[in-house]
Amino acid sequence: MLPEIVVVEDEAELARTVAGRFAEHARTSIEARGRFFVALAGGSTPKAAYALLASPAYRDSVAWERVRFFFGDERCVPPQSDESNYKMAKTAFLEALGIPEDHVFRMHGEDEPPTAARAYAELLLAELPGPHAPPRFDLVMLGMGPDGHTASLFPGTDPLTGDELLVRAPFVEKFGTYRITLTPRMINAAREVDIATAGPTKADALSAVLGGSYEPRTYPIQIVNPQDGGLTWLVDRAAAAKLPVKPG
Ligand code: 6PG
Repeated sequence: MLPEIVVVEDEAELARTVAGRFAEHARTSIEARGRFFVALAGGSTPKAAYALLASPAYRDSVAWERVRFFFGDERCVPPQSDESNYKMAKTAFLEALGIPEDHVFRMHGEDEPPTAARAYAELLLAELPGPHAPPRFDLVMLGMGPDGHTASLFPGTDPLTGDELLVRAPFVEKFGTYRITLTPRMINAAREVDIATAGPTKADALSAVLGGSYEPRTYPIQIVNPQDGGLTWLVDRAAAAKLPVKPG
């Protein structure tokens, strides 16, 4: 299925679009299956959308008690660290919404990376509804770095390394640290993948990813292609500035 590309004016409109889609994905998943299983994106782009979801404008548009929160990747830091994607999400909206701790499943960045990855894979098998193999998220939210990485799949290695797993702990040369990340196999099993990216620093990568040749070792995000699900790019005009054909 070809990806849909939605270009919005600016980061404020992107936040509204991401929040609106989150609420819509949640509504359709809960209507169909009684629950909404979502893997949250880390980084800075989704923060504004998360905050909107906890605001009066959106908070009543989701049946929060039916949502189960997971993460697409995590830094190898304790949950209290300002580097933690879990802490970012908790402070951006989970705490404000009063989401019960047992509805939030964080990757244990404080543990030995391979141990944490194995434990999270087992947790996904236990918590996500079967019998699909691999288990399916209703929505995986992703971002994209200026180098074309997504989650913690970084350039320089084949993103399909270890793809027999659901979660793995790659050593990321550029940071000199380990990360914990869903594998492409887990991401591509999702019913929906929404990639939100904004700002002029992403324009070169976005142009290469969407308009250039298929080089997933250089641009790991190119590996994202849900086999039986939707893929939607949500980008602002600044990030879309160098796209070969202006969509929309
Ligand atoms: C992380 C994210 C990462 C992020 C991109 C974009 O742990 O940092 O999972 O993949 O989505 O780096 O980050 P920004 O949104 O901050 O540009």
